[in-house]
Amino acid sequence: MANFRSLRYQEQLMADYDFDIPVTFRHRIRFTKDAFAQGNQVVGDLLEAERERKVLVFIETEIDRLFPDLQEQIRSYLEEQANLVLTEIVIMAGGEDCKISKTQIMDGIVPIERNGIDRHSYVFCIGGGAFLDVIGLSAATAHRGVRLVRFPTTTLAQDDSGVGVKNGINAFGKKNFIGAFAVPYAVVNDFQFLYTQDEHNNRSGLSEAVKVALVKDGTFFDWLEANVGALNALDPPVLEEAVERSAILHARHIALGGDPFETGSSRPLDFGHWTAHKMEQLTDFELSHADAVSVGVALDTLYSARCGWLPEEDAWRVVRVLQRMQLPVWHQSLEMRDEQGRRLVYRGLEEFREHLGGELTVLMLDAVGQGVDRHSIDEEKHEACMEELKEVSLAAAPV
Ligand SMILES: NC(=O)c1ccc[n+]([C@@H]2O[C@H](COP(=O)([O-])OP(=O)(O)OC[C@H]3O[C@@H](n4cnc5c(N)ncnc54)[C@H](O)[C@@H]3O)[C@@H](O)[C@H]2O)c1
Ligand SMILES: [Zn+2]
Repeated sequence: MANFRSLRYQEQLMADYDFDIPVTFRHRIRFTKDAFAQGNQVVGDLLEAERERKVLVFIETEIDRLFPDLQEQIRSYLEEQANLVLTEIVIMAGGEDCKISKTQIMDGIVPIERNGIDRHSYVFCIGGGAFLDVIGLSAATAHRGVRLVRFPTTTLAQDDSGVGVKNGINAFGKKNFIGAFAVPYAVVNDFQFLYTQDEHNNRSGLSEAVKVALVKDGTFFDWLEANVGALNALDPPVLEEAVERSAILHARHIALGGDPFETGSSRPLDFGHWTAHKMEQLTDFELSHADAVSVGVALDTLYSARCGWLPEEDAWRVVRVLQRMQLPVWHQSLEMRDEQGRRLVYRGLEEFREHLGGELTVLMLDAVGQGVDRHSIDEEKHEACMEELKEVSLAAAPV
C-alpha cells in the first residue's frame, strides 16, 4: 500500500501544473470640470473611504504655476471628505524631459515611502502625459502597486494616454523602454485644465482622436471632419466632446479588445506610431508626441491607399483634415539617412517589432474606421508617400 501511494505521488510530481489566474480590474473614468470645487462630488464618490485613507498628491510644476489656488482647493476639498487624509502635496517637473531622467521614478517613490502610503491609500497625479507616465510607474512599483488616481491635464493625456493602462520612461534612446502595465484606480478628466495649454498643443493632442477614429469609428471621423472649424476655435463643448469620445474609444478597446496588456503582436491603438516614436527620438524629443503621431498617421494612411487597401479619396480626406487642423503631415526628420542611404526612420520598424516581440505587425487602414494588421512595409512605396506628403506640406506652409 505504501509503495502504491508513493508511486502515485511520483506520478503527480511529474505532471504539468497549469493554473489560470483570472484577475478583473475596474477601470473608472470620469469627466468633470473643476473637480476640486466645493460641492463637486465626482472625486469624493470615486474613492472608497469606509475607514481612514491617506491621500498623497503629485502636481506637475507647470500646473502648480498655472493654477495657483489648486493646492488650497485640494486641501479644503479633502478636509470635507470623510476619512480622506491629505498627507503631502509634492510638486515635480513634468514634460518629456522627466521621462528621460533616471532619478525621476525614485523622486516619485520616495514620497510614497515617506508618507507611509499603502495599497489602500491613494496617490493623485495631476499633470501631462509624460508626468503621468513617470508617477504612474512609481505608483505601479512602490509596494508592487498602490492606487493611482490620474488627473490628465493636456488634450493628448485626456483623449488618450491618461485613460490607458501603461506607464513608462525612455531609456537607451528608446521610447517607453522601462515601464509597467497597471490599471489606474481611476481617471478624472477635468476639462478646466484644457484651456491653459497653448493653442497648438491643445489642437495637436487631437491627433490621437483622429487616429482612434480612423481605426475604430468612421462616424467619429466624419464628426471630427465636420467640426474642424469649431475644434480649431477650441470651442469648449465641441473640444470636450472630441476628448470624451476619443478617450472612451481608447478605453473600450483596452477593456474589451481582448489584449489589455499587449501580449500579442498587434497594437491597433498605435496606428502611425512606429514612425512617430522614431521621429521623436531622431529629433531628441523636440518633435512632440502629438505632432509626430499626426505625421505617422498621414503617412500610414496614404501608404494604405497606395497598397490598394484604402480608397485613395479617403486617404486625402484624412490628410486634409489633419492639415485643416494645422497639424503636420511631414517632418524633416524623415529625411535623415544612414551611411547606406536608408532613411533612419525605418529603424523604427525593428524597434516596434522588438518592443512586443514576435512577428512585425503594423496596423494599416482598409476603410475609414477600420484597421487591418500587416506584417511588412514596402519601403520604396512608403518613401514615395513621404515625398508626396513633403510636397503637399511645403506647398501649404506659410510663405
Ligand atoms: N502611457 C500611455 O499609454 C501613453 C500613450 C500615449 C502617449 N503617452 C506619452 O505621453 C507623453 C505626451 O503627453 P503630453 O502630450 O501630455 O505631453 P507632456 O506631458 O510632455 O506635456 C506637454 C507640455 O504641456 C505642459 N502642460 C501640461 N498640462 C498643461 C496645461 N493644462 N496647460 C499648459 N501646459 C500644460 C507640460 O508641462 C509640458 O511642457 C509622451 O511621452 C507619450 O509617449 C503615453
Ligand atoms: Zn500616442
